[in-house]
Amino acid sequence: MRVGDQSYRGVFLDGETVVIIDQTLLPHRFETRALATLDDAIDAIAHMWVRGAPLIGATAAHGVALAMRADPSDAALAGAATRLPAARPTAINLAWAVERMRALLAPLPPTERAAAALAAAKAIADEDVEINFAIGEHGLELIRAIAERKTKGEPVNILTQCHAGWLATVDWGTATAPIYRAHEAGLAVHVWVDETRPRNQGASLTAWELGNHGVPHTIIVDNAGGHLMRNGMVDLAIVGTDRVTAQGDVCNKIGTYLKALAAHDNGIPFYVAAPSPSIDFSIVDGRDIPIEIRGEEEITHISGLTRDGRHETVRVTPEKSPALNPGFDVTPARLVTGLITERGIVAANRAALAKMFPERA
Ligand code: MRU
Repeated sequence: MRVGDQSYRGVFLDGETVVIIDQTLLPHRFETRALATLDDAIDAIAHMWVRGAPLIGATAAHGVALAMRADPSDAALAGAATRLPAARPTAINLAWAVERMRALLAPLPPTERAAAALAAAKAIADEDVEINFAIGEHGLELIRAIAERKTKGEPVNILTQCHAGWLATVDWGTATAPIYRAHEAGLAVHVWVDETRPRNQGASLTAWELGNHGVPHTIIVDNAGGHLMRNGMVDLAIVGTDRVTAQGDVCNKIGTYLKALAAHDNGIPFYVAAPSPSIDFSIVDGRDIPIEIRGEEEITHISGLTRDGRHETVRVTPEKSPALNPGFDVTPARLVTGLITERGIVAANRAALAKMFPERA
């Protein structure tokens, strides 16, 4: 997608250099960073310079390629395949991408691994773009159907949680792909952007992205969603996901479950944009998904720009109060209206998912 007058992807190759966008600096500064080693790729994922399930998968694939460039031995491949997935535990795309790379590279002679790994990482990134574009096409029809029931010119109000935009993927985003396609198709859309405490990916990234593309949006505090739904101000919720189980339970950024409960209580469709690499057919019950517990400082402190333009972090809680910071929650399948996948919209249940992805199930 465009930033200023240039097109970017979440991770890309500049010649043979792997480049990412440092998302920790947004929305105040746009800077790219080159990743030169496996350790750089692990740092980028662990410190959330890149984040969002599809993007950490694609970045990890490039991390394997960097490891193979330095040392294409079996031991180095095994080391990369163990260390990368440990960088963040919840999003399944990370383990999925690393395992795909390992399975492809392991049978090759070491002399062929570096070139094959770079080509495979690029293929994973390109596929992500195609998948998200297809999600956009299917989701567009949902938005169009709602738009057709509205008074002419009245926008379709879509609520989203966290950030599942192009910066969370290689391009297009998952939850945002239908929104961008609808906007391009000339449909009036307006997005309620949950700020998404504690790291504020909604307020800092979703809002930045939508603003860059001219999509009307309004940032709300996380607790406002239920109130807006009760007052007829939300037509549809679309969120991303870090892992969907075989029975359609959806793990996503903390707070998603409460939005799904509020949507259910108010009869508002609650859709999950779910690329197939985010579906984990090895887990049935969402309670078995490992939930990342992140540092207390994300809750006890907050960062932003001062009035005179300095970036500062300040404490917002009492010194001695502890904090608990689960990064994700699980929305049970019964609260999910449907999963928007690259193959179409599917019900969140075991039979429907197995029918749509027979080769995975
Ligand atoms: O902790 P993050 O910022 O990596 O969490 C991201 C999200 O929860 C996204 O909504 C999810 O990964 C879907 S990404 C298209």
